[in-house]
Amino acid sequence: MTIGIHDISAATGSLVFALADLAEHEGIDVGKYHRGIGQTEMSLTAEDEDIVTMAARAAAPIIERHGTEGLRTVIFATESGIDQSKAASVFLHRLLGLPRAVRVVEVKEACYSATAAIQFALGIVARRADERVLVIASDVARYELNSSGEATQGAGAVAMLISENPAVLEIEPVSGVWTDDVWDFWRPNDRSTALVDGRYSVQVYLESLEGAWNDYRAHGGAEFSSFARVCYHQPFTRMAVKGQQRLARIADPDGESTDIDRLADTVEYNSRIGNSYTASIYLAFLSLLDNGPDLSAERIGFFSYGSGAVGEFFGGVLVPGYKSQLRTEELQNMLAARRPIGYDEYRHRHIAYDRVGDFETADETHGDVRFAGVEQHKRLYEAR
Ligand code: CAA
Repeated sequence: MTIGIHDISAATGSLVFALADLAEHEGIDVGKYHRGIGQTEMSLTAEDEDIVTMAARAAAPIIERHGTEGLRTVIFATESGIDQSKAASVFLHRLLGLPRAVRVVEVKEACYSATAAIQFALGIVARRADERVLVIASDVARYELNSSGEATQGAGAVAMLISENPAVLEIEPVSGVWTDDVWDFWRPNDRSTALVDGRYSVQVYLESLEGAWNDYRAHGGAEFSSFARVCYHQPFTRMAVKGQQRLARIADPDGESTDIDRLADTVEYNSRIGNSYTASIYLAFLSLLDNGPDLSAERIGFFSYGSGAVGEFFGGVLVPGYKSQLRTEELQNMLAARRPIGYDEYRHRHIAYDRVGDFETADETHGDVRFAGVEQHKRLYEAR
């Protein structure tokens, strides 16, 4: 029995801000952003968008293609939850028109939790092969203005259908895991922007990669040289380069795995969308699927990282014919259709983001579902 990703689809915010504008206003060389951290743009959510509307936009094509038969679980992974109690997937359940006989839940561990969600989904399908699980990763990555993380903001969602006999990726059973209680990046309940010890977070990411890789190998994981590509969590795309260099040094010192050109197809979307926390590694995967060569039957590695901190390394094999399942044009059109905003509007929106009390939002999204506002502490969503 093989289990894995049967379908995958992504969405992002309807606005875009160029890092060249940020660099100009900061009076610094844009090379720091374009080459130094490997980012050119960041997606931003419109006033009537959030993690739920992006999730709906990403998941709708999957439901349209496969229907709801056998779909009995939805797991929503996010760092940027919209309610302290009610799971974002409950809102999504209605917006997608899913049947009542579905369990829904939200999971959290910074940028890592979508990977835990996939592992939970694999377990459900292993027990009941006729069931399918919808896994959603959706996040709005926000840092304070004028902070070191500001250039690494972004917004995006990836939806994945986990099933038996998958059409895209067969996930192999071995995983390497790693956890350490550290303060590299966190967000207390009273803040909508993350706190981060930037340089330290890079160091912990790499320690976690090494720890997860060693655990992967100790549990019978494949040799590094057998991976055609590795998809990394990309808080900024240069982080993937640092990861690949570290892994190659410990796992394949005499080989050619340091070849960072092999990462190129995995960074295309993230360099334009920015950090999307839980969705970031799966956007890297989708970028490889959409923009890379046909890698049918090749092994792909995944390194998932969530600050705080948890890391996991696992592998999967691409199913021959997977290219026919993709919706490459749709995502590329969505990226191209984002409305560019200038520096003043960007800053204004950043400050206005934390609205409280009752309010209605302006009609801005390019998607079919909108966050209409808040009434008596209740978030209201509507389909067009
Ligand atoms: N041309 C080309 N390169 C340039 C340049 C120029 N003009 N100016 C600077 N650079 C290079 C620097 O040499 C540096 O390269 P190296 O990393 O290879 O040394 C790179 O650009 C970045 O420059 P700095 O290190 O000076 O940048 P910084 O300290 O201002 O910010 C950061 C870097 C701390 C990572 C910051 O982006 C940050 O705080 N980001 C948020 C935290 C984060 O993303 N951490 C990653 C791990 S944690 C994680 O993965 C979870 C998550 O999603 C948050």
